Amino acid sequence: MGLKPRILIADDEPLTLELVVERLQAEGYEVEVVSDGEEAIEAARRNSFKLVLTDLSMPGMGGMEVLAHFVKHYPETPVIVLTGFGTIETAVEAIKRGAYDYLSKPANLDEISLTLKRAINHKDLKEENVALRSQIQEQHRPDRLIGQSSAIHHLYRIIKRVAKTDSTVLITGESGTGKELVANGIHYQSPRRDMPFVPINCGAIPEELLESELFGHEKGAFTGAFKERRGRFELANKGTVFLDEIGEMSPKLQVKLLRFLQETKIQRVGGSRTVEVDVRILAATNKDLERAVTESEFREDLFYRLNVIPIHVPPLRERTGDISLLIQHFLKQHCVKKNIPQKQMSAAAIESLEQYDWPGNVRELENVIERLVILTDTDEIQLLDLPKRMQVVVQQPEARHIELGQDGINLKETLDSLENRLIVDALQRAGGVKNKAAKLLGLNRTTLIEKMKKKQIDFPSSML
Ligand SMILES: Nc1ncnc2c1ncn2[C@@H]1O[C@H](COP(=O)(O)OP(=O)(O)OP(=O)(O)O)[C@@H](O)[C@H]1O
Ligand SMILES: [Mg+2]
Repeated sequence: MGLKPRILIADDEPLTLELVVERLQAEGYEVEVVSDGEEAIEAARRNSFKLVLTDLSMPGMGGMEVLAHFVKHYPETPVIVLTGFGTIETAVEAIKRGAYDYLSKPANLDEISLTLKRAINHKDLKEENVALRSQIQEQHRPDRLIGQSSAIHHLYRIIKRVAKTDSTVLITGESGTGKELVANGIHYQSPRRDMPFVPINCGAIPEELLESELFGHEKGAFTGAFKERRGRFELANKGTVFLDEIGEMSPKLQVKLLRFLQETKIQRVGGSRTVEVDVRILAATNKDLERAVTESEFREDLFYRLNVIPIHVPPLRERTGDISLLIQHFLKQHCVKKNIPQKQMSAAAIESLEQYDWPGNVRELENVIERLVILTDTDEIQLLDLPKRMQVVVQQPEARHIELGQDGINLKETLDSLENRLIVDALQRAGGVKNKAAKLLGLNRTTLIEKMKKKQIDFPSSML
């Protein structure tokens, strides 16, 4: 059966290495070992590797540089980094810079073996998929809006209705709420769905360039215009133009856009011909455009032209009912994407995320889930795995949610509050009868009363 997969290990600790190499060879890998970054790069020149496992701290050239070298020159080779104890930030940094995964030292052999298998599997799958994917990309349908809240149902209905028309739509909402998905949804449900959907981020393109981006230019229209070029309106002919961040458009361009909307004709920069184009306009903004109008930053006439059909996408904190569904969706999506076995999230963690404020809306939620998928080792993501600011639920640990977590735990406090809860539970179930409650807890009556006093638990039977 074919060649043995060859892997490269860069690490300067021969003792740990020996066992690892032995194990990997037993599993059918061909292993080459080097002890610093330069040697790793040299090795890559001679051989091609299916995978690289590199320590981050080595004398001379370190692991980050090895990583950078492979990401740049052999992007198809997954790199796994080994990090010292308690340096999670470094691991995160490595992942950001393109590492496939990380292992904390001392890593056990099973963990190493599993991680390698996963990475190699992933690489093979990726290669198989390349051809397929490029086909799919052409007819790429964006994700649909996930949600069950009445707000989202309302959006579905509007999108469907609006898609049938050619009316201009102004989509408003905070950053990360899904405005672009709404625009996508409208286009792909409209009769124009087989024609281009052309998004333009008006805030990201410098003003001088935006005009020629939108309307195109003739040869020689300005320095650097060596060739004539069609603008996005022309490219989108018969399709949809999505003007994102319309609130950032300069007054000068606002005038030109308004003229286009009135005449449906464009004139390239530096030209005199006019060309008729047939595009549907969708626009989006996270600014309060009406206010911008009263403050004379945005033209009133343009605002009314755009705002024929307003669609508002509410912030996530106003539709908390969608949060658990979105969590499931992103967990699935990112585990599949990274070829990681499906992860779950504990009830307490979900509850906490439901109570968080989400200033960055769905985008923030998606980013958090993606990070958790990468950085959590267990199959179930726990409350304590969440970023601190998202641990909103007052920690009233239930026995099955108690975990040591990344930053450790205050044992005494945890046990205390657990004890409180169990005592209150027992008293409740016993209808306040201390004898019964004590029995439920395996204590004698006086011990229970003592504990209640000490903890100031006041529980007269008349309360029930
Ligand atoms: N209801 C949803 N279901 C699934 N994914 C969503 C939903 N809403 C947003 N997303 C995802 O969240 C991310 C942000 O959405 P999008 O880019 O549409 O937001 P936006 O409102 O355009 O934000 P910005 O104003 O910052 O441009 C995207 O990855 C998008 O796929
Ligand atoms: Mg957007």
